[in-house]
Amino acid sequence: MPENARRIWLCRRDDIADGVARGFDPFDRGQDALFVLSHGGQVYGYRNACPHVDGAPMAWRRDGYLNSSGTRIVCYAHGAQFLPESGRCVQGPCLGQYLQPVPLEVDGGGELYAWLTNRE
Ligand code: FES
Repeated sequence: MPENARRIWLCRRDDIADGVARGFDPFDRGQDALFVLSHGGQVYGYRNACPHVDGAPMAWRRDGYLNSSGTRIVCYAHGAQFLPESGRCVQGPCLGQYLQPVPLEVDGGGELYAWLTNRE
């Protein structure tokens, strides 16, 4: 993780069920900097920035980062689809490119944190 990253509390791990995603705006910029999803019992975090157009936000509504079945991450700008566990684009205009992962941590009490720099 980046040298100047700091641990930022997001929510309780149990607040994100499998097949559900949730966006976070930890720096109060009015737009999610990252989103977190649960897939196969694991949590994954990614920057809210599509690799097709650098920095493009991906959700079409609040927390709308997944397809209807909750099996793929979707960018609603041009329909790119990404694997939840790797962030690799498997369909759409940025095929083979990756979302930028955000390191996560779940502490012993079940609290979920992201490791972020102020630039994220
Ligand atoms: S900006 Fe995400 S698919 Fe085009």
